[in-house]
Amino acid sequence: MNCNNLSIIVAVDLRGAIGYKNNLLWHIPEDLKYFKSLTINNTVIMGKNTWLSLPVKPLPNRENIIISTSLKNIPNVLVFSTFSDALKYCCKKNNECFFIGGEKIYKQAINFVDNIYLTRILKEANHADAFFPLDSLRHFYLISEKKTFSENIQAYIAFEVYKRK
Ligand SMILES: NC(=O)c1ccc[n+]([C@@H]2O[C@H](COP(=O)([O-])OP(=O)(O)OC[C@H]3O[C@@H](n4cnc5c(N)ncnc54)[C@H](OP(=O)(O)O)[C@@H]3O)[C@@H](O)[C@H]2O)c1
Repeated sequence: MNCNNLSIIVAVDLRGAIGYKNNLLWHIPEDLKYFKSLTINNTVIMGKNTWLSLPVKPLPNRENIIISTSLKNIPNVLVFSTFSDALKYCCKKNNECFFIGGEKIYKQAINFVDNIYLTRILKEANHADAFFPLDSLRHFYLISEKKTFSENIQAYIAFEVYKRK
């Protein structure tokens, strides 16, 4: 499947860690604002665990899609039981579709997306059990990068944007 409206958005630590015990690693207001600014009025696609972890669901003012074999009939949300059905649906759309996690979804989506919005958190989490496949970035090139200091976590974060080579 070849379409150019597919993107990944993710926040990783220095080792590629993205989560622990089905939660994010840190609360980073700057990154949440960035996430919202990109995904608003677009489509977000997530795995079941990421859906369950959301404090507010569905994410408002976005089309929410879940990929799951076990969840069914969730109001105002589309659920696909296979990755390829979700992909086919998104490819037909005119707006940008963001794969928003977690690990299992990123590992599949990275083979299809054209864009990666990667927030690099310039520190290491003490504990992590979910990871982003950072090695796959070799198939992408960096087109922009903006660094800022996050007071909340007392570390720099870099908003990196990648395009497929
Ligand atoms: N840092 C970030 O940017 C970020 C963003 C999002 C999430 N996260 C973190 O990532 C972690 C969760 O990652 P995860 O890998 O455990 O969960 P996940 O990818 O959110 O969800 C995995 C589940 O999705 C369903 N699924 C995945 N691929 C499927 C397929 N091909 N067909 C059918 N169903 C499929 C399965 O659910 P069923 O069992 O129902 O089939 C599977 O168990 C959490 O710690 C979360 O906080 C981090």
